[in-house]
Amino acid sequence: MATDAGNPITRFPAGFLWGVSTSAHQIEGAAKEREASVWDVFTAEPGRVKDGSTAAVACDHYHRYREDVALLAGLGVDAYRFSVSWPRVNSPGGLDFYDRLVDELCAAGVRPVPTLFHWDLPASLDWLERDTAARFADHVSVVAERLGDRVTKWITLNEPAEHTLLGHALGAHAPGRQLLFDALPVAHHQLLAHGLAVRALRAAGAGDIGIANSHGPTWPASKDPADLEAAAFYDVLLNRLFADPVILGAYPEGLGELMPGDVQADLKVIGEPVDWYGINYYAPTRVGAPQGTEIEFGGLTLPAELPFSVREIEDRPVTDFGWPVVPEGLTELLTGFRDRYGDRLPPIVITENGCSYEGIDDQDRIAYLDGHVRALHAALEAGVDVRGYFVWSLLDNFEWAEGYARRFGLVHVDFADPTLKRTPKASYHWFRDVLRAQR
Ligand code: BGC
Repeated sequence: MATDAGNPITRFPAGFLWGVSTSAHQIEGAAKEREASVWDVFTAEPGRVKDGSTAAVACDHYHRYREDVALLAGLGVDAYRFSVSWPRVNSPGGLDFYDRLVDELCAAGVRPVPTLFHWDLPASLDWLERDTAARFADHVSVVAERLGDRVTKWITLNEPAEHTLLGHALGAHAPGRQLLFDALPVAHHQLLAHGLAVRALRAAGAGDIGIANSHGPTWPASKDPADLEAAAFYDVLLNRLFADPVILGAYPEGLGELMPGDVQADLKVIGEPVDWYGINYYAPTRVGAPQGTEIEFGGLTLPAELPFSVREIEDRPVTDFGWPVVPEGLTELLTGFRDRYGDRLPPIVITENGCSYEGIDDQDRIAYLDGHVRALHAALEAGVDVRGYFVWSLLDNFEWAEGYARRFGLVHVDFADPTLKRTPKASYHWFRDVLRAQR
């Protein structure tokens, strides 16, 4: 892939936050030392995970977190985004683990940035139930009370859009439901959970609160009105269904009516001001009119009855996952957000960006990240207020329905080795050098 790699990356503003991200279920393991989550139930069902694996051990980060914090310190990141497992917090001794992790991070000079929900819902709960939002606020209060003396930056939810779509509409993720548009209450209840969490955090004296949502430009398949209409609809689902209520306190036209409960009252909670807005960016999506057939796309099966179809983005390199590599899509996305929300847009943090490739000499990952960091800088130059960038991910890990087949890490993990040996990849050294040059 042609890149500018080799030319130094332009300096970002002082105070720009550089980090890496992970999530609890994908790395912690130690599944016996916590109650079950919907993901434990899902992975126990045959055929749900492509390689038949589970996250029972994963990277065993629960026991090896000291080694992983040393890797973070060696990388030189300012911050580490991890998630707090709700099932673990519910289990005896569970919060002690996060206490130790946060202490270790602070001692290493790495700022802890916890996400309070990253898809591993306790198996006894259900996002179709409104009460789950209130239960989440209780969980958040418990965590904030314990960690709030050292944690100064918080994320409520990770990607409620993907959790709704993959987990409840298409059934590719836990809890494996195929409700299609009947999954919309799951979106509303997560948004309500976000708003209640913001209030719970503020009540606990916490500040610097954001949410991490997945976004990407939608590219219409053609100028044909049917393609434009389908793409516009998809764009609302991906880029506005979650962002509008959080940023504007309103649903996009036509969607509020489909949500359960007293939506107007709930929107006042959902629209509680956040201090920043997190964006996870991987790739744009090309979308056209429905084609009347099932579509296999990026590891997913999309049913024929959807009112849009996803098309291939041609003439682009793809990652091992088959996702197109489009760095300038990040600039387009960010300037588009600025144009859409104007003064209402809070400062942005890129809370995830990364790619799956095999190998320890991962030049493709370097090219991907290099391109995206430059595209991010272009957005800053265009006047978008971006305050941080987190690479997904520190470690190769349990990539949900793909099992261990997709490697997103800056650090290789040998899952066949009993010690789960960690080996920094070429991209780890590259990112370390980028960070050093920014100091
Ligand atoms: C999720 C991560 C996931 C990554 C790569 C994001 O949607 O937040 O948990 O591993 O994408 O698929």
